[in-house]
Amino acid sequence: MTSSDLWDEETAQRYDESSAEMFAPEVLDPAVDFLARLADGGPALEFAIGTGRVAVPLAARGVPVTGIELSAPMAAQLRRKVPAEQVPVVIGDMATTRVDGEFSLVYLVWNTIGNLRTQDEQVECFRNAARHLAPGGRFVIDVLVPPIRRFPPGQVAVPFDVSDRHVGFDTLDMVTQQATSHHYGRLEDGSVRYGQSNFRYVWPAECDLMARLAGLTLERRVADWTGAPFTSESERHVSVWRKDPDALEDSIRRGMRH
Ligand SMILES: C[S@@+](CC[C@H](N)C(=O)[O-])C[C@H]1O[C@@H](n2cnc3c(N)ncnc32)[C@H](O)[C@@H]1O
Repeated sequence: MTSSDLWDEETAQRYDESSAEMFAPEVLDPAVDFLARLADGGPALEFAIGTGRVAVPLAARGVPVTGIELSAPMAAQLRRKVPAEQVPVVIGDMATTRVDGEFSLVYLVWNTIGNLRTQDEQVECFRNAARHLAPGGRFVIDVLVPPIRRFPPGQVAVPFDVSDRHVGFDTLDMVTQQATSHHYGRLEDGSVRYGQSNFRYVWPAECDLMARLAGLTLERRVADWTGAPFTSESERHVSVWRKDPDALEDSIRRGMRH
């Protein structure tokens, strides 16, 4: 049983339109370039593939992409774009679901590691990524750095978008690392619609430890898909961990000892 919110039919139908800025070529193209380079001709697996925002253009670049997705309505939206032979999707939880095959790249973008709202599940997600990787393969995460520097004592919420049609802010609990994004959107008829999503925020160093528990080593950390340096001012990170190229031989050796 996963702790993730289940994305419903209505959310799935509105997803591409409501996330239009994330489909813009200046946002998407650097991500697809970055991932295509890392796949290096091998197959890729996207955890939480959604409606295929990244997977569809990556597959169009010749990278075979498979997906795992919790929400059947989100996967159905992807299916309207490409057939199953082109981008197969397994419905399930990215922390536990196993798909056939061995991949040179597993990736999980746009803060979605946080949709797993317990540390145990996040650890399992890293392990599941490692399980799917060929020796030498890479796991990539794109996630925000928890914005707690914006929380002076006594402040309970931090806005991330204040625009004509949308007001969004996060509330965070410093003790449990539980957080909620609140969205107030103005619709065409002038009415206001409220939506929220829950997540567990995670530190870069905590990600590295989860990776180590899964047998993965940090290879690279940058601030965004263009490869900008990661600094103390960075608000997000794109991190790449590598499965030890000798992992297979190691595990065979360990197996022979027992
Ligand atoms: C922000 S969307 C990202 C979708 C896509 N990767 C993208 O970049 O557009 C988050 C997605 O994660 C999925 N999701 C949330 N929890 C999940 C889980 N435990 N296992 C698999 N998918 C999950 C949601 O259903 C949703 O499709």
